[in-house]
Amino acid sequence: MESVNKKICFSKRTGVFPPGFKNINDFIMAINVQALIRGSLDSPANRSRIFTPFLQIKGWAISENRELQVKILVDDIVIDELEPKLTRNDVVRGLGVTEHTVTPGFTSEVDVSKLSDGIHNVKAIAYSGDDKLLLGSVFVQLLISKVPQYTEELRSRSLERWKKCKPDPLLTWGKKLTGDEFIKTCGKYANFSTEKSILELGPGYGRILSSIISKNIPFKSYTGVDLSENNISELQKNFETNKIHFVHGNFTTVQLKEKFDVVVSSLTLKHQYPTFANAIKNISKNVKNGGLFIFDLLENTDMKSADVKLKKLLDFGPTSSTWEETGTFVGFYTTEEVLAVLRYLQLEFVAFDYVVHWPETGKRLVVVARKTDLVSEKSS
Ligand SMILES: C[S@@+](CC[C@H](N)C(=O)[O-])C[C@H]1O[C@@H](n2cnc3c(N)ncnc32)[C@H](O)[C@@H]1O
Repeated sequence: MESVNKKICFSKRTGVFPPGFKNINDFIMAINVQALIRGSLDSPANRSRIFTPFLQIKGWAISENRELQVKILVDDIVIDELEPKLTRNDVVRGLGVTEHTVTPGFTSEVDVSKLSDGIHNVKAIAYSGDDKLLLGSVFVQLLISKVPQYTEELRSRSLERWKKCKPDPLLTWGKKLTGDEFIKTCGKYANFSTEKSILELGPGYGRILSSIISKNIPFKSYTGVDLSENNISELQKNFETNKIHFVHGNFTTVQLKEKFDVVVSSLTLKHQYPTFANAIKNISKNVKNGGLFIFDLLENTDMKSADVKLKKLLDFGPTSSTWEETGTFVGFYTTEEVLAVLRYLQLEFVAFDYVVHWPETGKRLVVVARKTDLVSEKSS
């Protein structure tokens, strides 16, 4: 037990799972199950560099007698007190709790805009009756003065990553995949016909278009906009006809002339930094009244964000996101975050659905929204 305890201390100090713990299940199993309180501060990670005017705190805590309070301290000053009340499926699965009412997750967003740039200590402590547990203590480097510059850098880093990409299977998990399932889901909402024009955002190597063609989906015209010159020339070579056209450009800024009936996008909008909002806003100008947007995203199901802070979401992205080493940004959206963006864009929400592109990669959230003048009139 002693070595396990040492590992746990290490974990609390670093805020990450120590070597030897593959995942949260391993970690939870190793914790002394007799403890009244169990929990962890998941983020920020130790030594993170913070380029946002807020600090996103995330963790979980659970107590035998259920009454629990978590205090968040920055430089030993209490700046937030909260009760864990968010769903954390990963923790509940890891703990083997069968009761569905257990909601051990907590998040807090600490305004650090007034703090000086430099190193600061963040602690989370859980209290239950007379017992208390240090969930984590980490050091972060605040770089608030660099926020605008950094945000701009991230934006161009993300664009550069896609500008250079090639029309190969690396765009879809190293395997050339079919778009059949995605198109089947689109067909549930869009009445594809020879009267309807389709716009695709980020066609890549033409996965979705290949399915449209092979499944004989009728369309008046198809236009694909992609940032990568390599992709566009390959797409033009393989698919261009008098009904199928491609535009080389950034769909967040491109100025198209035509108005479309259906906009589709797969495995692409989750990569837009900070969110997909700017892309949809720009493209919305080219969608007919009553036209549909159908796109997939990665869903954040581990955490419910009951009150979405719109400005923060639009400026810095969803609560959960990551940058891969390749420079690829990946946003994970709660359904509340998606709905908040749709409201901001004045799009009518039609449905959430799911698609499995490939069994090993799990299901994706499909968002269906409609452009309608009625929504604009209601909100004005
Ligand atoms: C991961 S790939 C997905 C390709 C395709 N949609 C599929 O599902 O197979 C993302 C594609 O979107 C394109 N892309 C990413 N951001 C873009 C942007 N801002 N404007 C235009 N194309 C973009 C990339 O060049 C790439 O072809």
